[in-house]
Amino acid sequence: MQREFDIIIWGATGFTGKLVVEYMQRNYGGGNLTWAMAGRNISKLTGVRDLYGTNVPLLEANALDPQALGELVAKTKVILTTVGPYARYGSELVAACAAHGTHYCDLTGEVHWMHKMIHTHQEQARESGARIVHTCGFDSIPSDLGVFFLQKHMQQTYNTPAREVKYRAKAFKGGFSGGTIDSMMAMMEQAKTDPAIKDIIADPYALNEKYRGPDGLDHNRHYYDNDFKSWVGPFVMAAINTRVVRRSNELLNMAYGQGFSYNEGTLTQDGFGGLMGAAALGMGSSAMNSLAALEPARKLMQNFLPKPGEGPSQEQIDNGFFEIELVAKHPTDSSKDVRAVVKGDKDPGYGSTAKMLAESAVCLAQDDLTVGGGFWTPASAMGDQLLERLPGNAGVTFTLI
Ligand SMILES: NC(=O)c1ccc[n+]([C@@H]2O[C@H](COP(=O)([O-])OP(=O)(O)OC[C@H]3O[C@@H](n4cnc5c(N)ncnc54)[C@H](OP(=O)(O)O)[C@@H]3O)[C@@H](O)[C@H]2O)c1
Repeated sequence: MQREFDIIIWGATGFTGKLVVEYMQRNYGGGNLTWAMAGRNISKLTGVRDLYGTNVPLLEANALDPQALGELVAKTKVILTTVGPYARYGSELVAACAAHGTHYCDLTGEVHWMHKMIHTHQEQARESGARIVHTCGFDSIPSDLGVFFLQKHMQQTYNTPAREVKYRAKAFKGGFSGGTIDSMMAMMEQAKTDPAIKDIIADPYALNEKYRGPDGLDHNRHYYDNDFKSWVGPFVMAAINTRVVRRSNELLNMAYGQGFSYNEGTLTQDGFGGLMGAAALGMGSSAMNSLAALEPARKLMQNFLPKPGEGPSQEQIDNGFFEIELVAKHPTDSSKDVRAVVKGDKDPGYGSTAKMLAESAVCLAQDDLTVGGGFWTPASAMGDQLLERLPGNAGVTFTLI
């Protein structure tokens, strides 16, 4: 594919977009990778270019201008986008990529929107050769690649896939940006006005095309997990990550098995303290969902939460981290269960997310991938390549324990 650029970063003026620009400048600034920044406001883009001391070209395109988006994606092999909420601003860009055969990666966690994009553009993306990969940040790379990594190990060692994988968030420190809050609120608003969206969000196999397996609704209460000797509460991103992992199984030709089951939770501890912590997580997430479903409460929350463009401080990003443990259950012999830990060296939602997204874009631009055009998950399109790239370049490690 001959294009003017390898990568265009669209949304370079936003909170996460700026972190991606900083990472690209630091790691790929002087190399042979050609990249550019794009946004809806050239003078804001100039400010970002000056801030990070880069001299890459600047391009203007508004989400509401399909012609400008078509011209933008025709210039590049890969477009990396942080322009969200994606359901509000992302559809025309995906359409343009599918039409022009441009590879694409993003940070969306909006399951109903991904569902719509897959069903609308899958055929065209297959024909044009565009590899479209959603969820290339904290949701859902640690989950998706963590399972891919463990299943590969289980297959190589015991010649069988694990029948179940459990993901347990063990420790993390980080914050929220205004863009993420805006996306979450927008999803609530859309679900309220359209009951079909609510059904899609609740469907454990919302992103699968044909396959449906044994998993039911996400855990929203606490429970005791013997595999971790700990109480477990709900995990805030489970409703996104579990759908992505289940889609990966289908896209990998059921490499994880027909009856494969996957769930996510947050580890608290053993004993009474752990029980109370896990129960509080369950109650907290139910209360938060109920509050955010009410329009006046949503408006009130938006008044004191970060606004679009705002987010955690540099210090919070640098001091942040995450640690997740996963166990893959052998189908018949628990002594053959396999465990792994996934760690990140920056705050999950922004510092580590920006690095994972940037490496996904570089991978789509430069690596020798075996898959053709279509809507892929991170693991199904780039599993082996990202397992190579992320530990050394992005500080996200996958280790057997
Ligand atoms: N999955 C994850 O792990 C993860 C982590 C972080 C963020 N996210 C998601 O990433 C998205 C961005 O978050 P953020 O905090 O970086 O948001 P943000 O700071 O609000 O940035 C949004 C970007 O979109 C641009 N934009 C808005 N309207 C546009 C339009 N009509 N045309 C072109 N560009 C437009 C903004 O441009 P201006 O600067 O000109 O306003 C800005 O560059 C959100 O959807 C968030 O949920 C996901």
